[in-house]
Amino acid sequence: MSKKSVLVYGRLTDDQLATLARDFDVTHFSGTDLANDPAFHKALQGAHGLVGASLAITPDLLDMAPRLEAIASVSVGVDNYPVEELTRRGILLCNTPDVLTETTADTGFLLIMATARRAVELAEFIKRGDWEAGIGEAQFGSDVHGKTLGMVGFGRIGAAIARRGALGFGMKILYSNASPKPELEAELGAERRELDALLAEADFVCVTVPLTAATEKLIGAREFSLMKPSGIFVNIARGKVVDEPALIAALETGEIKAAGLDVFEQEPLPSESPLPHMKNVVALPHIGSATTETRNAMAQRAVDNITLALKGQRPINLVNADTWSKP
Ligand code: DGY
Repeated sequence: MSKKSVLVYGRLTDDQLATLARDFDVTHFSGTDLANDPAFHKALQGAHGLVGASLAITPDLLDMAPRLEAIASVSVGVDNYPVEELTRRGILLCNTPDVLTETTADTGFLLIMATARRAVELAEFIKRGDWEAGIGEAQFGSDVHGKTLGMVGFGRIGAAIARRGALGFGMKILYSNASPKPELEAELGAERRELDALLAEADFVCVTVPLTAATEKLIGAREFSLMKPSGIFVNIARGKVVDEPALIAALETGEIKAAGLDVFEQEPLPSESPLPHMKNVVALPHIGSATTETRNAMAQRAVDNITLALKGQRPINLVNADTWSKP
């Protein structure tokens, strides 16, 4: 019997590729514009599985892949996939939660610290040779410890950031979330708020909600106007959860103090964006989960998911559970 075909378009280690190749006929793509790559289109015709990330899978691409059974995304976010359409076609969609939670939370806290203590701006100050005398008020930052951290979204990653804040920095934790989280309230003393109240009360507002139709542009001009002028905004979720021009305006006018951003409306960030050039912004190139250990673990989880799915076994992380009818 011929092997099923798997197209890989994300970074897997050589060992992971070799593992996959034991069971499947593997083709590795490394181009940056796969959606318009004729070789990729041709390979889709015979593909049973896809493994990768950062490629928007459209219904048009799915039409080119009549044999497709499963996709293993090397990401926790699934905003690049038409989930309902995949379910309708009976195509399994898998992701990589859990293995990236702590690393992504580290990035969230890095942004909280770096913005509050102006770490990037003041490192640049030294590099320019501007450190000529003792530093004074012009270089002062804000405390993190003891402040109020407002989590917009309180899933696994949000909870891990809040844990760092509450247990490591003595922060008061507020959260807004569709459902209450009594276990985290007990563990961290977290208090649930409506979004508007959280924005008004928090010193740090940290967004961790997934991007869905309901969360697109969740934070816009009205929401920034509710934040304290000393408030710091952190986004490690998805850029499209925020109205980016409204964020830029709030930072320019001093409506909020600073922002730490790992994600942007358009990625890679267009060169004309003012955000990385603003003194009160710490901008990172979507590195939430980008450590060697965690990216290897995510890739391994994707390999495990696709292997199980294409062998007819339930994958570890099945996003569209409605596709699974087996007992
Ligand atoms: C994720 O896993 O969703 C990260 O944001 C990387 O895309």
